[in-house]
Amino acid sequence: PAMNVRMWEHKSTKINLKKLKDFGYKLIGPEIGDMACGEYGEGKMSEPLKIADELNQFFLNQSQNKKFKALVTAGPTNEYIDPVRFITNKSSGKQGYELAKCLSKKGFDTTLISGPTNLEVEKDIKLIKVETADEMFAATQKNLPVDVAIFSAAVSDFKVKNKSQTKIKKEEALNLNLEKNIDILNYISNHNSMRPEIVIGFAAETNEVLKNAEEKLNKKNCDWIISNDVSKKNIGFNSDYNEVTIHYKNKSLKNEVLPYKKKSEISDEIVDRIIDQLN
Ligand code: PMT
Repeated sequence: PAMNVRMWEHKSTKINLKKLKDFGYKLIGPEIGDMACGEYGEGKMSEPLKIADELNQFFLNQSQNKKFKALVTAGPTNEYIDPVRFITNKSSGKQGYELAKCLSKKGFDTTLISGPTNLEVEKDIKLIKVETADEMFAATQKNLPVDVAIFSAAVSDFKVKNKSQTKIKKEEALNLNLEKNIDILNYISNHNSMRPEIVIGFAAETNEVLKNAEEKLNKKNCDWIISNDVSKKNIGFNSDYNEVTIHYKNKSLKNEVLPYKKKSEISDEIVDRIIDQLN
């Protein structure tokens, strides 16, 4: 507001301003000083630079105070053959757990959907334990919407069709009939009306890592793919270390290599980039 000092001090202006403030409007100014009409007093418009500064500060505080929501999948899935046997893989869950810890530490409201692991997390992370890909999919859907979803779990691509309800007896040979599991990342990227603002997948590759990762990025329609070479013994599955490349769908951003370091440090760098993008 800006006006003549006597208008500003008038009772009707004061009543109207109180109404505006009660509605939640914020005021910048007015200031005390010389006015265009030649009088002096309170009612002078704030300087444009001061108005711009206050607006900047207001929106900055608002974005910093917003509590973003994150969802992470981690670990392997178990796909049962019979009540006591299952197909699984070597994922320890370490990469996903470090990501969830880091997101939570940096202020995200974090849900971690985890396949079977031996790991623990702090209480401020909402941990949902699942076993199969179907359970992981159901839990993921149930915990949307979020601002960012990171799919670091090593989800089994196949499950056993017609799994036996009783323990299978020893025989000369056993043929397993496998059917495809739902691709959780693909589904959330493409079909969900509650698609997160940033959808991030991982690509665990043993050959032609970068090429295969780019193909996955396109095929699964996610915003980033983080590739790692799981043929290397010192990184990837069940190591405390990793070395990854971030592939962006937005080709104005250059792919980035995060060189060999602890999974906690890799997670730290990934989360910083997520925060930058969300802001
Ligand atoms: O758990 P760690 O021991 O710490 O190891 C970390 C890791 C190697 C498991 C991790 O860094 C990693 O690469 N995770 C992805 C493993 C994987 O299954 O990659 P993929 O290339 O097969 O799958 C591509 C993406 O699709 C992944 O984001 C995966 O979570 C997702 N996917 C795959 C199949 C499926 N049915 N549903 C999915 O959501």
